[in-house]
Amino acid sequence: MAIRKIRTIGDEILTHNTKPVKIITPRISILIGDMFDTMYEACGVGLAAPQVGVLKQIVVIDVTEERNNPLVLINPEILELSGEQTGQEACLSVPGKSGIVTRADYAKVKAYNEHMEEIIIEGEGLLARALQHEIDHLSGILYVSKAEGGLTDVNPDEEE
Ligand code: NI
Repeated sequence: MAIRKIRTIGDEILTHNTKPVKIITPRISILIGDMFDTMYEACGVGLAAPQVGVLKQIVVIDVTEERNNPLVLINPEILELSGEQTGQEACLSVPGKSGIVTRADYAKVKAYNEHMEEIIIEGEGLLARALQHEIDHLSGILYVSKAEGGLTDVNPDEEE
């Protein structure tokens, strides 16, 4: 497995739509492993394939402090959103910045795992936020377009 280069804002690939995955090829298995390595190395809670330059519907998430609950979501689809949360959000593709974004506080998502088995993931709070943020990446949407009052600089020592 390997660390991949994270594309940053201004890179056009981040604004493109993505294609669904049909079968898990060895290439895709390697990509998923690399996405986890890249996300953990950058201390992120989620990463979407376009962020490493691949226009496929693949997302990895781990919102735990212990970094022990890796989730793979292939071809994710939001089934249900409810409630509301307003809070700070950041993105590995927008380094050194954060913004305030209002999102649903609960999300229910259908996806496929790395074996192409259908899974349902339900999350509240940070997990719900990560699900919505990462799924937005698959449609070429960055949180900056949803940030209320623009972005602020993040102190590198405090950056998540
Ligand atoms: Ni992001």
